[in-house]
Amino acid sequence: MKGGDVRILITGGAGFIGSHIADRLASRGDEVLLLDALLPQAHAGAPPWLREHRLVVGDVRDGELLRELLDGVDAVCHQAAMVGHGVDPSDAPDYASHNDYGTAVLLAAMHAAGVRRLVLAGSMVVYGEGRYDCPTHGTVRPGPRRAEDLAAGRFEPACPDCAAPLRPGLVTEDAPVDPRSTYAASKLAQEHLASAWARQTGGSVWSLRYHNVYGPRMPRDTPYAGVASLFRSALAAGRAPRVLEDGAQRRDFVHVTDVAEANALALRADPAAGGLTALNVCSGEPHTVGELAATLAEAMGGPPPVIVGGARPGDVRHVVASPVKARAVLGFHAVTGFADGVAAFATDETREPAATARAS
Ligand SMILES: NC(=O)c1ccc[n+]([C@@H]2O[C@H](COP(=O)([O-])OP(=O)(O)OC[C@H]3O[C@@H](n4cnc5c(N)ncnc54)[C@H](O)[C@@H]3O)[C@@H](O)[C@H]2O)c1
Ligand SMILES: [Zn+2]
Repeated sequence: MKGGDVRILITGGAGFIGSHIADRLASRGDEVLLLDALLPQAHAGAPPWLREHRLVVGDVRDGELLRELLDGVDAVCHQAAMVGHGVDPSDAPDYASHNDYGTAVLLAAMHAAGVRRLVLAGSMVVYGEGRYDCPTHGTVRPGPRRAEDLAAGRFEPACPDCAAPLRPGLVTEDAPVDPRSTYAASKLAQEHLASAWARQTGGSVWSLRYHNVYGPRMPRDTPYAGVASLFRSALAAGRAPRVLEDGAQRRDFVHVTDVAEANALALRADPAAGGLTALNVCSGEPHTVGELAATLAEAMGGPPPVIVGGARPGDVRHVVASPVKARAVLGFHAVTGFADGVAAFATDETREPAATARAS
């Protein structure tokens, strides 16, 4: 697809990441149309930064509405999802409905409208734990960590075959999937649905598996907010950020403007027709959660982090990823470094707390 006269539908376009994609695409001259249900779990109202875009408030599960909106659309950038940890079994119907039924309705409507290009917001949560190597057994897949190990401060997963300590490495897109929460399962099911659709229609799908995204407009104070936002809210209130485990768990923190650029590149690149291509969207620069807390505390002039131990059920130890494939096939590389991005995050605008969070 060439530039100019291109119309893109961004679902979840009022959200944290979707709104940055909208700005990026509009700045290069694409016509963007946003669809967002403004879920009360996510929003306390329409966010102020959407004024310059056309937003349709509606649900991605509404097939009739989609068929209207898809008229004249060249590609869909599917960001709409219910996000969060997904560890409460009673939330499963909502995750499956928004994320999987919603994706199914979207794909059927795209087929009806003859729209063949999809960029899907994938997630690193499909991997479960990251990559680990045992000196004897090579690359292994450690199972969930045991509650008694976590309680005793044994945070590193051991080799499932010989219990030896493991060396963490960079996860690549061909790693086996191991979703460990309802949310993760729903994100993986989105990929499967989109992959089947591509085979049936000859359409093409990029699944951009984002790592830990942070930056301006990140939601604030919700139970579902990412760790950067929780640390920031604590510091803004004069409190020390509370770091779980021993703080040495590693993640890849990727700036939201880089994630928007990856989407912009994917919307113009041609993946293999008739299939889904998954790509890690990450910085390629792993950092620990403790480092994130310390860097942010320093930038905000707040108290240093407190290590509180423990771990939430389903938390994984290290998930850091290889950026090589996204660079090779999309020419994508993150340009915002950790030190600069985190320092700026100290004063970035953040999104109002969600209605439900305020009410509780
Ligand atoms: N933030 C991260 O670190 C991260 C990491 C990996 C993947 N992702 C994925 O990126 C995408 C965007 O996430 P975000 O962080 O911007 O979250 P967000 O909550 O800010 O944005 C999601 C948006 O989707 C909307 N939405 C949800 N269900 C909908 C429905 N049925 N119909 C219409 N709109 C609906 C919400 O109102 C919200 O505005 C999601 O698909 C998420 O799974 C995010
Ligand atoms: Zn071993």
